[in-house]
Amino acid sequence: MPDTPMPLIPTLPAGLLDALHGVLGSRGVVTDPLDLEPHLSDWRGLYRGASPALLRPASTEELAAAMRLLYEAGVPVVPQGGNTSMVGGAMPDESGRQVILSLSRLNRIRDLDPLDMTMVAEAGVVLKTAQDAAAAAGCLFPLSLGAEGTATIGGVLSTNAGGNTTVRYGNARDLMLGLEVVLPDGGVISGLRRLRKDNTGYALRHLMVGAEGTLGIVTAAVLRLFPRPRAEAIALCAVESEDAALALFRRFRDRDEGAVRAFEYMAGQGMDLVLRHVEGATLPLSERAEHYVLVDLSSSRPDADLRGLMEAVLEEALEAGEVLDAALAESEAQRAAIWRLREEHPEAQKREGASVKNDVSVPVSRVPELIRRSNAALKALIPGARPVPFGHMGDGNIHMNLEQPEGMDPGVFLALSHEIMDCVNAIVRDLDGSFSAEHGVGRLKPDMLAEWRGGAELDAMRRIKAALDPKGLLNPGKVLPA
Ligand code: FAD
Ligand code: MLT
Ligand code: ZN
Repeated sequence: MPDTPMPLIPTLPAGLLDALHGVLGSRGVVTDPLDLEPHLSDWRGLYRGASPALLRPASTEELAAAMRLLYEAGVPVVPQGGNTSMVGGAMPDESGRQVILSLSRLNRIRDLDPLDMTMVAEAGVVLKTAQDAAAAAGCLFPLSLGAEGTATIGGVLSTNAGGNTTVRYGNARDLMLGLEVVLPDGGVISGLRRLRKDNTGYALRHLMVGAEGTLGIVTAAVLRLFPRPRAEAIALCAVESEDAALALFRRFRDRDEGAVRAFEYMAGQGMDLVLRHVEGATLPLSERAEHYVLVDLSSSRPDADLRGLMEAVLEEALEAGEVLDAALAESEAQRAAIWRLREEHPEAQKREGASVKNDVSVPVSRVPELIRRSNAALKALIPGARPVPFGHMGDGNIHMNLEQPEGMDPGVFLALSHEIMDCVNAIVRDLDGSFSAEHGVGRLKPDMLAEWRGGAELDAMRRIKAALDPKGLLNPGKVLPA
């Protein structure tokens, strides 16, 4: 029997489509291929899927009703937030059977309480909007990452995103007190409790965080807020080596652990790409270096002398030969310009050509060894390829990315992705690290999950999945290996 050709425009059974229209209204069901288009490929350009429809519920009740219909019909569902996943987590597959569920219309901030220091935000609220709402109320929502203008609260919780401030505030999980979740069969867990203590059975909210949309749909969350910073000091430093970068981190931590809000490492190679590709980007130092560090200090105390702390520690480190040069931000514009040099790393790598990402973590003490050994191994593996390590040194998460050799066909380079990831992962394993620090497993890394978390751990994950999603309809093909 010949294979049935895949329809060019996949469709849902007419009866189901009518029923979905009935619960979601005409704005809630999108089938026009032009409107579907932006939802069918990922930020990295690794995947291209097909889908019969994009559903856009406007409330938790609408979503629950739609999920009941899809569950009965046995239709698989792929949740999508801002679609900034680095591991293809929000992509439907190529079968044309998987419906995409966008949370973009669930975008209200339901409540913000500066005394409880909590915000109740719906899943489709963009991270930057949540940060701005907290700031407007004199508070801080500290999660911060390069994609914050697009990534959503549902997405950052479902991936347990980390970003730049993990060193002080932890990951998304640590910033969540309660969750509202719709289960695959349409059941609703109404767990929007704003409690700091709540030991009432299994902490299902924590199971949902980092589950990448495979166990339930996050519709709203109680987020933790913090006092807003009233004193800040930010510097870009050229440092002598990876070890010198770590020594500098230790100097700050030893002086005042609580002052460090972010401590980011960047290799010279990556900074060169940012300076080449990002309009207006300039290096505020006298010359190029092989290694840079961005130090960001902040305090909620207006009288905290962070500039004094910054200058004192940098002076010591200059004398010790660890720091070669440093620029302290004197204004908000300079502060933003320094952060831009760091945040534009992913975009600059993209503009330079194809790159393979290794989002890995190791104990903080082993970061220099990770970078050195991986650089050497990657250069030996693919002559001419350019390692571009950068990232969240203060929490042990380095993006050990590899940029293609100049002039190489991007497709040829990307065909080597698995060898490249294996090469770095062998070193990461040796250093007691993890193959995915913050981007998750998604569609890209289920095989790695099997390899690294096999046996009882993977078995327990499979049983949880089977219990909550017995028909296997939620984000199939993601996280768990087939
Ligand atoms: P999507 O990409 O849409 O989805 C991510 C996953 O969550 C998918 O599996 C999806 O199915 C699921 N999902 C989405 N919404 C829901 C929901 N409501 N309920 C259940 N499941 C859902 N990540 C970091 O951790 N740290 C970084 O520093 C960082 N920097 C980045 C920089 C750039 C330029 C980019 C493009 C991405 C970066 N990321 C980073 C990766 C990415 O994980 C985060 O941007 C964010 O967590 C994804 O949010 P999103 O709304 O775009 O989710
Ligand atoms: C970042 O921290 O900028 C991203 O998580 C890293 C990446 O794009 O590899
Ligand atoms: Zn990162």
